[in-house]
Amino acid sequence: ASQPLIAPSILSADFARLGEEIAAVSGPGAGRADWVHVDVMDGHFVPNLTIGLPVVRSLLNTTDIPLDIHLMIEDPDRWAPGYAEAGADNVTVHAEAAHDPVGIARDLHAAGAKAGYSIKPGTPLEDHLDTLRHYDTLLVMSVEPGFGGQEFIPSVLDKVRTARRLADTGHLRVLVEIDGGINADTIEQAAEAGVDCFVAGSAVYGADDPARAIASLRERAAH
Ligand code: DX5
Ligand code: ZN
Repeated sequence: ASQPLIAPSILSADFARLGEEIAAVSGPGAGRADWVHVDVMDGHFVPNLTIGLPVVRSLLNTTDIPLDIHLMIEDPDRWAPGYAEAGADNVTVHAEAAHDPVGIARDLHAAGAKAGYSIKPGTPLEDHLDTLRHYDTLLVMSVEPGFGGQEFIPSVLDKVRTARRLADTGHLRVLVEIDGGINADTIEQAAEAGVDCFVAGSAVYGADDPARAIASLRERAAH
């Protein structure tokens, strides 16, 4: 892993002020978000409901920062391409929900987006290595998807280490992303395991100064 990427999750932001909340992490310097992570939940794949394509479209009009769309929804085959067509930079679907993941990756690429593939904490990486050849990012969930503010599950770092090794030896070309429970206490172990991109919700938007929180996470991930 080279320079760490920090992706604040707006799940922990004020949903009535999303534009301002993104602006707060869009300044220059180490406090600037590399990606803004957007959690789309449908109340079926996960027991929580957030926002969908209309809000994402509006966010795309308010920011230059790449949007990292995390689809925690059923039937992503049907819905994922719309986010790519709208201009999202990276669109991630869940392994546990995708019917034809290779077809999804092809559709996302055809629409000009990167394709992301996410596995829940209990999902083995080994079962998905062939599929991952078609993807640009691997999102390793370090909590059960659905809610912010949960405790980091360190055992998922074995999957990160495996993915790192496969990426470093050229067997996979994925960027390794982690999501869930990342904060000042947990980010260093994730960085050591080989994560490239760190999603952080409550650690950024629960802080008094979100940009400063990003800068400090960045600093810790680099050491
Ligand atoms: C959880 C979401 C995460 C969430 C992380 O299902 O995918 O992106 O926002 O929140 P924290 O960083 O608070 O665990
Ligand atoms: Zn997420």
